[in-house]
Amino acid sequence: MRVGVLTGGGDCPGLNAVIRATVRKGIKDYGYEFVGFRDGWRGPLEGDTMPLDRAAVSGILPRGGTILGSSRTNLMKIDGGVERVKDNMAGLGVDALVAIGGEDTLGVARQLHDHGVKVVGVPKTIDNDLNATDYTFGFDTAVNIATEAIDRLHTTAESHHRALIVEVMGRHAGWIALHSGMAAGANVILIPEHPFDIDDVTAHVESRFKTNYAPIVVVAEGAHPKEGQMELATGDKDAFGHVRLGGIGQRLAEEIETRTGKESRSVVLGHVQRGGTPSAFDRVLATRFGVNAIEAVHNEEFGTMVALQGTEIARVGLSAATDKLKTVPDERYAEAEVFFG
Ligand code: F6P
Repeated sequence: MRVGVLTGGGDCPGLNAVIRATVRKGIKDYGYEFVGFRDGWRGPLEGDTMPLDRAAVSGILPRGGTILGSSRTNLMKIDGGVERVKDNMAGLGVDALVAIGGEDTLGVARQLHDHGVKVVGVPKTIDNDLNATDYTFGFDTAVNIATEAIDRLHTTAESHHRALIVEVMGRHAGWIALHSGMAAGANVILIPEHPFDIDDVTAHVESRFKTNYAPIVVVAEGAHPKEGQMELATGDKDAFGHVRLGGIGQRLAEEIETRTGKESRSVVLGHVQRGGTPSAFDRVLATRFGVNAIEAVHNEEFGTMVALQGTEIARVGLSAATDKLKTVPDERYAEAEVFFG
């Protein structure tokens, strides 16, 4: 059996750990051969490959990014894309694919499976918004990076009596904001699931200033105010139709400064959250996902994704994983709200 492996979408810490585990388990227990496809779905579409043997995966467990490269290529938008992938797989003697990605990459995997391609998915995204898995790898690392950054920003905010607005990633789901904001004791946490009231945000910030403790507002990049409250800029769209975000933190800082008369600065953590070495939690989760993905291939459980449910690794249908996003439930946000103000 020859298995192709690809990583698609935004990179995240732990991708290499999955690749390594998939290859090591496949070679050791089943005698499989592997082919690395470069840059997400672009690899199988264009037949762009790299060797993926024992030597290629040596030493990559703690490395951030992905040795395979990544892209947001949407092959469903390319004429004849599915047939080209099938032809390239046949030409290379690749029997099955392990696709490591988020909702977009796995959405394509699901459609390919509908067209007869043997594919198993592995859930990846720092956003933790994939349905049917309790956690995706990369999220824990991102939360740790954001938490450390917020801790550091606290001390400078204190010294200068400033409000600091920290913008973290999270386009549709506020998991990173929720967890890092809770872990670092944010003054208020703003997430896409709950349009915010700028009057309430201002009141929280002012109450923090009154106690001589500098306010830190943690805002997810996809958070937005209640209708009609503030104008926001919109950005370009990618191949999956997602707007390139960024800007809510700066916009909030301006508004808060105007309303409170106190200096307010914004910090966008951006891709720092996705970079560098994975946490121990993410290395273990990624490794377990890789091992289980190749087991799913061996058992011919195609059209499935490996998922963390409690402490067990389960298999779920790719459609269950990609039909809807896992957003922050109201009760989780209510737990965080206890500490606002
Ligand atoms: O999907 C993960 C993610 O990091 C999102 O949180 C973010 O909105 C997006 O990717 C950014 O994508 P890019 O790096 O392509 O701008």
